[in-house]
Amino acid sequence: MRILLVGATGTIGKAIAAALGRRHELFLASRQQAPLHVDIADPASIRGLYAKVGKVDAVVSAAGQARFKPLDELSDADFRFSLDNKLMGQVNLIRYGLGSIADNGSITLTSGILAQQPSRGSGAISLVNAGLEGFARTAALEAPRGIRINVVSPPWVTETLQALGMPLQGGLPAATVAQAYVRGVEGTATGQVISP
Ligand SMILES: NC(=O)c1ccc[n+]([C@@H]2O[C@H](COP(=O)([O-])OP(=O)(O)OC[C@H]3O[C@@H](n4cnc5c(N)ncnc54)[C@H](OP(=O)(O)O)[C@@H]3O)[C@@H](O)[C@H]2O)c1
Repeated sequence: MRILLVGATGTIGKAIAAALGRRHELFLASRQQAPLHVDIADPASIRGLYAKVGKVDAVVSAAGQARFKPLDELSDADFRFSLDNKLMGQVNLIRYGLGSIADNGSITLTSGILAQQPSRGSGAISLVNAGLEGFARTAALEAPRGIRINVVSPPWVTETLQALGMPLQGGLPAATVAQAYVRGVEGTATGQVISP
C-alpha cells in the first residue's frame, strides 16, 4: 500500500513507520523533520500535501497538539490553538483527504486516553480528543467507496513517561502502541476507537 504518515518523526510516529515500513511504501510528513512538510493547523498546507503525494491507500496521523493547563489558566488562545491543531487538523485530514484515498482505503487518526480518563489540567486535550472520536464515528458512516475511518486512543507511552521523568506504570511501549495503527490500516474496522 501507499501510506501517508503525518507526524512520522514523533515518538509514536517513528514506531508506526517502523511497523508499517516493512510491508508498505510510506510517505513521511511533519512540519519540519520529515521529508514532506505539512502543518495540520493550516488547511492550505494539508491541501498542498495531498496534491503533492497524489493517490494513497491509507492516511495515518500521529500528530496534533493541545494545551495542558489548569482550567483557570486556559486562555481563549489556548482553546483556539487546541481546536485548530489536534482537532480541526485531523478533521481536515479526513475532509481534504477523502478524494485522495483509493477505494477501500483507510484513515487512522490519534486521540488519547485523556478523552476517557481525564486528569486535572487536561480540559482542552480531553475536549479535542473526545471531539475527534465523535467526528470520526460519524465520518465513517458517510465515507464513500468503502473508505474506513478509525481513531487510535493511545495510553501514556513508556518513552514519553521516561522523557518526562514520570512513573512508568500504566504506560505502553511505542512499538506496542504502533500495532493499533497497523490494525487500523490492515484490518477491517471502521468507525472505531482502537485502544492499543
Ligand atoms: N506520547 C504519549 O504518551 C501520547 C499518549 C496519548 C496520546 N498521544 C497523542 O499522540 C500524538 C503523537 O504523540 P507523540 O508523543 O508521538 O508526539 P511527538 O513525539 O511530539 O511527535 C509529534 C509528531 O508530529 C509532528 N507534528 C507536530 N505538530 C504538527 C503539525 N501541526 N502538523 C504536522 N505535524 C506535526 C512532529 O514533527 P514536527 O515537529 O516536524 O512537526 C512529530 O513528527 C499526539 O496527538 C499526542 O497527543 C501521545
